[in-house]
Amino acid sequence: MIFHVLTLFPDMIQSAASASIFGRGIKAGHITVHTVNIRDFSANKYNRVDDYPYGGGAGMVMEAEPVYRAVQSVMKEGRRPKVIYLTPQAPVLTQTKVEELAAEEELVLLCGHYEGIDERVLAEVADEYISIGDYVLTGGELAALVLMDAVSRFVPGVLHNEESSQFESLQDNLLEYPQYTRPEVWHEKAVPPVLLTGDHKKITEWRHAQSVQRTRERRPDLYEKICSTYVVFNGPENAALFAETLNEKLSRYGMLLNYNRNKLIRAKRVFTARDFAVFVIEDEAGAMTAFRNISGTDTPAAVILSGTEKPGEAFLHFLEKKGFAVLYTENTAEEDFEGEVSRICLEIRRQMDSL
Ligand SMILES: C[S@@+](CC[C@H](N)C(=O)[O-])C[C@H]1O[C@@H](n2cnc3c(N)ncnc32)[C@H](O)[C@@H]1O
Repeated sequence: MIFHVLTLFPDMIQSAASASIFGRGIKAGHITVHTVNIRDFSANKYNRVDDYPYGGGAGMVMEAEPVYRAVQSVMKEGRRPKVIYLTPQAPVLTQTKVEELAAEEELVLLCGHYEGIDERVLAEVADEYISIGDYVLTGGELAALVLMDAVSRFVPGVLHNEESSQFESLQDNLLEYPQYTRPEVWHEKAVPPVLLTGDHKKITEWRHAQSVQRTRERRPDLYEKICSTYVVFNGPENAALFAETLNEKLSRYGMLLNYNRNKLIRAKRVFTARDFAVFVIEDEAGAMTAFRNISGTDTPAAVILSGTEKPGEAFLHFLEKKGFAVLYTENTAEEDFEGEVSRICLEIRRQMDSL
């Protein structure tokens, strides 16, 4: 991953980026941080890049031309990486957005200063505007560092095995459960006994309950968005691996329902409005038979059909009549299995975030 950071304070970026796990990622060649000093593109003999705002008012504004030239300096050989302007006037960065940005090979991060940047150049060069929170910083550098740090966690090789977790807080709109390490008793506080049982099923259940409780207490806004995810599969057993992998990647606590099993097919199942059903199927007519006993209650859903075609009207209509609101449809014809799963996962997370 290559980050081009366009800034008036390249030293601030370079010194912060050289530390800790991020710095190690740079040394190992997984990440490149290329800083561009916008001042180097000033046409002014004193290297000034700011001027008074038209219409009056406090502070200075960064001029359009040096910013424009700085951006052009990183657009070489037909490459046109996405340009992000860090600004408080934008949607706040989320874990889903971080994951989406990590799929890019290069990113250009434009840091403003003073009262910001001349609007005309932003309209011309910025592909996206991102804020890191609802407060105002003195410059975009800390915001760029936050974004790079979060994105780098998804860059292969940056985290060592023992540091990486498939799921982190927020990836499924849940805050992570509390963590404990040795000693077993500290300041007369014992580690919760369930964690010492070695019973993985019980531990997972306890952690899930803790995550839900913590999210409800600390982030009621996220709690409202929590969905239980179900990957509902019907198709040949050799296609089940795709459904399994999708289920594992989608949510720490998701459930795979294999509708090749008669027991499931015969039983009635009603999904709620707080569930998210991802139907993974190969044959639409066969799936309609297998899913005859399931229904939703305005349940958000996605349909993934293997093959070169997207799911057809008849199947979508069948789900709609059964109480599902299909928000996303996709087909999985590509060879790149891992890439397909990641792409589809990200799209489903986007849909969940927007609920
Ligand atoms: C003092 S701020 C300018 C604020 C601007 N006058 C306004 O009211 O929106 C200077 C620069 O800091 C950066 N910045 C400030 N707060 C930010 C935030 N919450 N997220 C991302 N960048 C931020 C932007 O690049 C901005 O151009």
